[in-house]
Amino acid sequence: MGKPKLVVSTGAGISAESGISTFRDSGGLWENYPVMDVASADGFRRNPELVHKFYNERRKALMNAEPNAAHRALVELEKYYDVYIITQNVDDLHERAGSANVLHLHGELMKIRSVSDPDYVESLDTEHLVTTPATRGKRGDFMRPHIVFFQEPVPNIEPAMELVHEADIFVVIGTSMVVYPAAGLIHAVRPGVPVYYIDPHPADVSGMSDVRVIAKPATKGMEELKEELEKNMKDML
Ligand code: APR
Repeated sequence: MGKPKLVVSTGAGISAESGISTFRDSGGLWENYPVMDVASADGFRRNPELVHKFYNERRKALMNAEPNAAHRALVELEKYYDVYIITQNVDDLHERAGSANVLHLHGELMKIRSVSDPDYVESLDTEHLVTTPATRGKRGDFMRPHIVFFQEPVPNIEPAMELVHEADIFVVIGTSMVVYPAAGLIHAVRPGVPVYYIDPHPADVSGMSDVRVIAKPATKGMEELKEELEKNMKDML
């Protein structure tokens, strides 16, 4: 009998306390950048230079960010649970915190991929954070940010839905639940599986049964939830 499966869906809110801007909070990224110019397929076709510049700036910001206590709490829970992280975030804070299983729905800031062959992906290192439309990969392909732009498919949504369907516990942290298909993950839990939603300004989930809202920042909310989940496991051992 393996450990119970704890599946966690995270959004920009879990990285907020690491100093990384969210998108839709006041002062967020979409207040300062025209989203359809810097993060959509049309925008990339129209002005690839602007899109590369936008992601270069976000990569630079990521270099000053560290995982926070919420990322670390999820790693500590691996003692008692098989923890699977599904994240809409393109930062690598879950990986840097030490999470064993991380599935990115919207791509990864520290990776670039071939414009002509989406399966050809290369990792950037901290010495090479800047890309332009002229950037070529090791085999000569023109490269682009390894990001899922708006108007593009989300290839990892199927495995993500499967993970949520197998969850024994499902936790949502720091997402406004407005972007699909990610926002639909919560509907893939089996009936009776406990769902927790940690967010200081949670979206309205009153229509969904059995969701326990913890209206706190990710670090405080995870502290509270980790205690409860660890206690549950100790009581069962
Ligand atoms: N702790 C937890 N949650 C927080 C915190 C915090 N300290 N600060 C803000 N939040 C919450 C906000 O209340 C909000 O619900 O994080 C959420 C951020 O919402 P968005 O900015 O919409 O980010 P997200 O839901 O991840 O956006 C989804 O939209 O633009 C696309 O691809 C982009 O992946 C992104 C997707």
